Amino acid sequence: MTATRDEIIPLAGIACETNTGITTLPLSSEPSFAYWQQDIPSEYWDLDAQQLVEHVAIAREKLGSRLVVLGHHYQREDIIQFADFRGDSFKLAQWAAGQPDSDYIVFCGVHFMAEAADILSAPHQTVMLPNMAAGCSMADMADPDDVYAAWEELEEAGVADQVIPVTYMNSAASLKAFCGRHGGIVCTSSNAAAVMKWAFERGQKVLFFPDQHLGRNTGAKMGIPLDQMTLWNYNKPYGSLGGMTLEELERSRVLLWQGHCSVHQRFTVDQINAARQKYPGIHVMVHPECRYDVVQAADSNGSTEFIVRTITEAPAGSKFAVGTEINLVSRLAHENPHKTVFCLDPVVCPCSTMYRIHPAYLAWTVEELAAGRVVNRVSVDEETAHYAKIALDRMLTVV
Ligand code: 13P
Ligand code: SF4
Repeated sequence: MTATRDEIIPLAGIACETNTGITTLPLSSEPSFAYWQQDIPSEYWDLDAQQLVEHVAIAREKLGSRLVVLGHHYQREDIIQFADFRGDSFKLAQWAAGQPDSDYIVFCGVHFMAEAADILSAPHQTVMLPNMAAGCSMADMADPDDVYAAWEELEEAGVADQVIPVTYMNSAASLKAFCGRHGGIVCTSSNAAAVMKWAFERGQKVLFFPDQHLGRNTGAKMGIPLDQMTLWNYNKPYGSLGGMTLEELERSRVLLWQGHCSVHQRFTVDQINAARQKYPGIHVMVHPECRYDVVQAADSNGSTEFIVRTITEAPAGSKFAVGTEINLVSRLAHENPHKTVFCLDPVVCPCSTMYRIHPAYLAWTVEELAAGRVVNRVSVDEETAHYAKIALDRMLTVV
């Protein structure tokens, strides 16, 4: 079956193509429009799945070891089949920092991951993202100007020198650079607790952005009471401390940016209760981007790599209800036929931005490359990369 461009790109977050046909995405799966993608030649949309596989395979053979394809765990099956290396955002960043052999890295993931790969990879390596419109709606919730303005307010309130800025990997390179400049650090969901400990060894408060849930869940894991973690609402006017009072600011140890992931915010405690009722003794495992009450109710939580490892290493007969993106859960169910693995939310949608990496874009990217043309290069300017690398290098050493 071939697909038209409009079926594949979830325009306004409504429709996308799945392996089984067209599906409807809930509006909560907010699309990211931060980056612009040029139209690719229409011939690509006339190719069926098998033809696209052949196009990618032929181009890759021409490029040999000069090209490496990286795939995040949320990529759909027809993309992950091409990945030389797959992982969570931490593992993929580690890979980019330590493998200078290839000339080209095609990153099948989202924009902030490709930016991190560009910053961490060797200078001669070129990073490409098959579809530039593959952003992250959570990352877009931390607009750099809003974060800079919040910092200015903290300076005016006389507390900025006690605050360590911590940005989640899901953020623009300029925010990673901001952290590098201000004694801060980047974290991923696999090392957030270690990073927060690192930050509290250097300051009394943490400004955590963009994901309030990962920030709150991590703070709670470290024993910080909920009333010492306060939301910074970036929609509030300048000068209002993100909506908190001076007393709240004084009392707070973690200032939580009011961002979230639309995919993970959909999971609920009711879904966990329903899974436990249906399968007594089932292990409920969720990503720490889920809400606090969901993480508290689950049996375990961790990054996508943690989820993959836990299920893969479990004995046959194990049962898991998983609260994370559906492409990963479906793959785990398929790869572990002697275990029960299902998604907590029966109508969960894929991450609509990860989903924008369609094989037609991948085929176009690698065929252009095989013809000597680099398309969709993700390149961070030198100064931003310099400071962002400081924060990313700190992240890589804190595990
Ligand atoms: P991981 O670092 O766990 O892969 O998470 C990235 C992400 O975007 C989850 O929504
Ligand atoms: Fe961003 Fe959520 Fe998609 Fe992860 S799942 S890339 S946080 S929108």
